[in-house]
Amino acid sequence: MVSMTDLDAWACAELSAIEECLNTWVPSDAPAGLGIAMRYGVLDGGKRLRPLLVLAAAHAVGGSRMASLRAACAVELVHAYSLVHDDMPCMDNDVLRRGKPTVHVQFGEAQAMLAGDAMQALAFEVLTPALRDATHDSMPPALQARLCGQLARAAGHDGMAGGQAIDLASVGRPLDQRSLRDMHHRKTGALLRASVMMGAACGEIDATAWSALEVYGDSIGLAFQVIDDVLDVTQESEVLGKTAGKDVDANKPTYVSLMGLDAARRHAFELRDQAQAALASSGLRETVWLGLLADKVVERDS
Ligand code: IPE
Ligand code: IPE
Ligand code: MG
Ligand code: MG
Ligand code: MG
Repeated sequence: MVSMTDLDAWACAELSAIEECLNTWVPSDAPAGLGIAMRYGVLDGGKRLRPLLVLAAAHAVGGSRMASLRAACAVELVHAYSLVHDDMPCMDNDVLRRGKPTVHVQFGEAQAMLAGDAMQALAFEVLTPALRDATHDSMPPALQARLCGQLARAAGHDGMAGGQAIDLASVGRPLDQRSLRDMHHRKTGALLRASVMMGAACGEIDATAWSALEVYGDSIGLAFQVIDDVLDVTQESEVLGKTAGKDVDANKPTYVSLMGLDAARRHAFELRDQAQAALASSGLRETVWLGLLADKVVERDS
């Protein structure tokens, strides 16, 4: 029987590979301090759930190692950029992220905006290595194009950015469950689902397994944001590494404001069960890390 301790050991090894790649690929020498702000925003912090999902899905499908590491870092770069912008005064106006002052507090608003822009662009550079790069051959052009398309769709108007627009437009406006689910699916779910599907794209799988992983990705994607809403109410800022209680203060519609704390938590666990059922029906054999990561999504305390 595999346990959370095994997941932690697997994740620890994978996290050092991810950190090494990010450390190599995020520049320190970009002009006028931009690289310093980028590195501050993405290195040394965060749970790295999205890159772990990429690598867990790639493991499940026997995917290419170098392609999946590039996909993992690309997704984390887009996620980290979304946090830099999410924290800016024009959005959630937060001063604490990943246990440190936010990028705009540290470097100013204009530099934070540019660091976010550059992190997003770098994600697509990472997916399209230069011809002279030693790892170029592990990224056939068709795979590069596919991964870029998956990431672009998850990050853009139909995914994270669209969800963030709904989030800002919904301040002070209670949403019904359908609208709230749609917002959460876009602003958070899209990138988590893309993490799973980009990992899957690094290998070969049949249509049944592909559809099952989509259901898994959708379910944990939504569960993740439901638990984020719960933790905003129940957890301390020191543990979260970001300011707790922001959603109530900012009058944001959340699963907690819609259904209350206990029902929101129960809903997240139901979504986790849906994710596990999808894995069981996938026909894939190496789903152990995906299964444990689904548990982690709902059992986490930060
Ligand atoms: C926070 O994401 C923002 C949401 C999408 C809810 P994480 O909780 O994954 O943040 P890090 O990466 O661990 O800092
Ligand atoms: C942010 O959601 C989702 C993103 C796309 C960054 P939140 O605004 O709830 O994330 P936190 O709570 O600040 O991490
Ligand atoms: Mg926000
Ligand atoms: Mg926020
Ligand atoms: Mg939140």
